[in-house]
Amino acid sequence: MPALVLLGAQWGDEGKGKATDLLGGSVDYVVRYQGGNNAGHTVVVGDQKYALHLLPSGILSPGCTPVIGNGVVVDPSVLLSELSGLNERGVDTSKLLISGNAHVITPYNVTVDKVTERFLGKRKIGTTGRGIGPTYADKINRVGIRVQDLYDESILTQKVEAALDVKNQILTKLYNRRAIAVDQVVEELLGYAEQIRPYVADTVLVLNQALDENKVVLFEGGQGTLLDIDHGTYPFVTSSNPTAGGACTGAGVGPTKISRVIGILKAYTTRVGSGPFPTELFDEDGEALRRIGGERGVTTGRDRRCGWFDAVIARYATRVNGLTDFFLTKLDVLTGWEQIPVCVAYEIDGQRVEELPYSQTDFHHAKPVYETLPGWSEDITKAKSFSDLPKNAQNYVKALEEMSGAPISAIGVGPGRDETIEINSFL
Ligand code: GDP
Ligand code: IMO
Ligand code: MG
Repeated sequence: MPALVLLGAQWGDEGKGKATDLLGGSVDYVVRYQGGNNAGHTVVVGDQKYALHLLPSGILSPGCTPVIGNGVVVDPSVLLSELSGLNERGVDTSKLLISGNAHVITPYNVTVDKVTERFLGKRKIGTTGRGIGPTYADKINRVGIRVQDLYDESILTQKVEAALDVKNQILTKLYNRRAIAVDQVVEELLGYAEQIRPYVADTVLVLNQALDENKVVLFEGGQGTLLDIDHGTYPFVTSSNPTAGGACTGAGVGPTKISRVIGILKAYTTRVGSGPFPTELFDEDGEALRRIGGERGVTTGRDRRCGWFDAVIARYATRVNGLTDFFLTKLDVLTGWEQIPVCVAYEIDGQRVEELPYSQTDFHHAKPVYETLPGWSEDITKAKSFSDLPKNAQNYVKALEEMSGAPISAIGVGPGRDETIEINSFL
């Protein structure tokens, strides 16, 4: 079973970085397949803490080849500074491979992201401001710049010209901003080209050959299921497909190769940015989850919105991703609550609804229907097996598993690599 997908089952920040790093020691390749440096994946190894944005979390495992797939959007300046930051800390990054078909986040796309949000005012998405949406828009509009374009100055100039033709009209006439000069952009991008060249590869070929040789490939999602452009809470989503199918298109690997899809699921819920969130808490419980869980964005430093676990969302993630397993994270954060509410259904206009409503209007009106489970007060951070957990913590996990539709195969009880209870092996 060589190919596994690991993805966020909620609105991101579920602990994908930690889970990927945990498996990184046993896999040959870790592949990012969508998103860009909007991601913020925290990995704690011993007393060292790493915050990765664009690079796959497998970069911290010496035996593993990290890959940036064709579906990712790459900001070259962020890439180079992330690499040099790791090099300074003694991490060998020389094995990294980057798809020549990945799209480049250009400086004008970062500008467009920021001014569009400002223009939207109260209706803003609350993006990370990293140019993600405009870069994917250029890709779909067929005016994007790809990594391979950095190696042909004439093509690069033509493409930047084509993209800026329209964008400069929008920037100057609609947003009242200064036009961006083609030459300046081309010069900046060419300045990155030689530093990136050693990493550029035909990653589709590399990954398919690896799978043919029975190597183990792990696809690491950024963001989460509910931030998916097709299956998330549109328009309050990111502009790519973090869901399992995105691994196939974003890396060039057929669905028949994927044998396991692991959903990373926080024991409660968080969200950053705008958009509906039925179990969001505005009281001291929400404040306590934020404080105890350290729920502050790794990328933008924004406080995360916090709420109770939502089983409707977990069931939905199981369905749209074909999840085979869950990795439940941050169970330790819930220690100390006497009672823990869990959302089992919604009430929408007086009706009980068990599944995620497909209509945006209904989802905005959804009110959580809670069941309350008894909590525990014992420290669980040293637990190594399921039976080490207090009975009520065991029952909480079992209840979540029953409601969510896939087995919980691992439980996180702390941020460190070893603070994990493995129930079923992933490999
Ligand atoms: P990602 O974007 O899905 O990789 O998640 P983030 O790194 O943005 O946020 C998850 C946070 O929770 C990070 O600070 C992790 O170090 C931390 N974390 C991950 N798993 C656990 C866990 O089981 N318990 C605790 N207390 N923290 C965890
Ligand atoms: P990781 O990989 C949480 C959110 C933003 C915003 C929306 C669109 O760490 O889980 P974008 O900049 O992508 O156009 O913003 O998506 N968002 C995330 N929220 N975790 C992330 O990544 C996110 N990446 C984007 O806050 O609401
Ligand atoms: Mg994150």
